[in-house]
Amino acid sequence: MEPAIIVHGGAGDIPPELHQAHQQGVRRAIEAGWELLVAGASAMDAVEAAVVIMEDDEAFDAGRGSFLNADGQVELDAGCMDGAELHVGAVASVQFIRNPIRLSRAVMDRSEHVLLVGQGAQRFAHKMGFASCDLTDLAVPREFARWQKLLFGQSSPARQPFSPPSDTVGCVALDRAGHIAAGTSTGGTPNKMPGRVGDVPMVGCGFYADDRLGGASSTGWGESIAKVLLARLVLHHLQQLGDPWAAAEAAIEDLAERVNGLGGIILLSPDGRPGWHHNTPHMSRAYRTSTMDAPVVRI
Ligand code: GLY
Repeated sequence: MEPAIIVHGGAGDIPPELHQAHQQGVRRAIEAGWELLVAGASAMDAVEAAVVIMEDDEAFDAGRGSFLNADGQVELDAGCMDGAELHVGAVASVQFIRNPIRLSRAVMDRSEHVLLVGQGAQRFAHKMGFASCDLTDLAVPREFARWQKLLFGQSSPARQPFSPPSDTVGCVALDRAGHIAAGTSTGGTPNKMPGRVGDVPMVGCGFYADDRLGGASSTGWGESIAKVLLARLVLHHLQQLGDPWAAAEAAIEDLAERVNGLGGIILLSPDGRPGWHHNTPHMSRAYRTSTMDAPVVRI
């Protein structure tokens, strides 16, 4: 099988001063994942590598650079899925961990569970040898300033405030063995209620992968995405329509019509054809397949 990979750096209203950083970030992520796939690595390894690059890049709302919650803390969600045998791992509301996508993979590979939350997830992380970090390793001055501004204004992450620069990062990859994997990571929405969990760590909502159906990663207003199981929904549309671009458009139409939702979706078909769609002003994203000399990068 020829490999393919697609990433997003979040859907939202990305201000012009962050456009270049977003484009550079998704390009670096896709190149890292692509290099691994070409060398014969698994789709899951490529997804993890691409998402880690975006978690470490403060341009994105994931890992370092995440939005702060109403208490001025960073609470992170992430999930991943291996489409070969439908293995899943996810974490929610974890603090002081640099790369929650790696922790979600540890849940998948090294526990009997699919989802660990809060302090239990952090205890698992320490048991698995993950180093703790400080709040200042995750919260950057840009987000402290946003938090302070929001503190004195609106406080709830409902639809109207869902106009952040963009939220969430994600990746879907197909490897040479024909296996699909997907992963998604986020700091959630700005000024969210402590303990609030969005779509990202919920299987079928923030991510989904099945070698027989394809793979998908979501971004956007998590409460709306969770109600329509956006990542699984787009693969249902792919089965019906056969075309990943049409499937992405249909899924985002459903999101808007059924729950007045806002967001974006990326996907790969089982044979590695890409698709994406969003109804936010922007979604940074990139993809690469074996017929291309360089990735397509868009915002
Ligand atoms: N889509 C990310 C979130 O709402 O948490």
